[in-house]
Amino acid sequence: MRELTATVLENKQIAEEIYSLTFACEEPVKVRAGQFAMVGVDGFPLRRPIAVCKAEGERITLCYRLKGEGTRRLASRYSRGEKISVLLPLGNGFSVTEEQKRVAVVGGGVGIFPLIAAIREYAESKEIYAYMGFRGKEAICMQYEMQRGKELVIATDDGSVGYRGTAVQAFMEDIDRVKPHVVLACGPTPMLRALKSATAGRDLPVYVSLEERMGCGVGACLVCVCDLRGGGHARVCKDGPVFGIGEVEL
Ligand SMILES: Cc1cc2nc3c(=O)[nH]c(=O)nc-3n(C[C@H](O)[C@H](O)[C@H](O)COP(=O)(O)OP(=O)(O)OC[C@H]3O[C@@H](n4cnc5c(N)ncnc54)[C@H](O)[C@@H]3O)c2cc1C
Ligand code: FES
Repeated sequence: MRELTATVLENKQIAEEIYSLTFACEEPVKVRAGQFAMVGVDGFPLRRPIAVCKAEGERITLCYRLKGEGTRRLASRYSRGEKISVLLPLGNGFSVTEEQKRVAVVGGGVGIFPLIAAIREYAESKEIYAYMGFRGKEAICMQYEMQRGKELVIATDDGSVGYRGTAVQAFMEDIDRVKPHVVLACGPTPMLRALKSATAGRDLPVYVSLEERMGCGVGACLVCVCDLRGGGHARVCKDGPVFGIGEVEL
């Protein structure tokens, strides 16, 4: 992990309440899909954790939803040429073994962004089946990136585009045809819970990336601890954010 002062190349709206921030670091940064950045926002003592969506040498892209004051300030304060302070790369990231050839990615809300990084990382070497859930048409973005895999199903709550329902429902309708060797997932906790109960009893490894509130992002403050199944705790920032779905209490 390094503390970097990067130069903003672009910070623009790409869908309803969603922004894409691209910045250039002074040198290339090696980032694994599922790793994240802690982004310093002027005027806020705590950095904001945001998953890396694209890493291309020294160019890094993060996509974020306007949520509270920090992300709103990030959208309004930073434009091309500004300097921004980031800690990068953080967390463990996803890992897929050599034998796991068919990979399903199941994402919802801002959870689609680390999964776009996974699609980019594995599109050449694996068969990727992506199930991406959005509230409605206005929230859909990065479609070109999501299409890099073998198949893409877009699910919307209101049925305005693609499958009407959740990404988990769309995935479970396909699971026996696709026969994935591994599932990578990220999204709101109710979505991850639904995935956990839908896949229970199957001999299928499922990895989830958790989005806990964070303070430091580097394992020091314990703001982000989650409960482990069978007792004990883990720091989402340092031990995660990616865990086996059976390892953690959701
Ligand atoms: C590993 C990880 C990856 C993430 N990746 C993305 C992403 O790719 N795109 C995206 O839009 N969002 C992502 N989030 C969520 C994002 O961090 C929060 O939406 C953001 O911090 C909200 O900040 P705010 O000041 O706008 O909101 P406020 O609610 O005002 O934030 C107040 C405080 O709570 C923290 N906080 C609030 N909600 C969250 C949350 N869900 N997760 C962690 N901290 C939170 C903030 O960092 C801040 O310290 C990720 C979170 C984690 C932990
Ligand atoms: S955010 Fe500080 S220990 Fe995880």
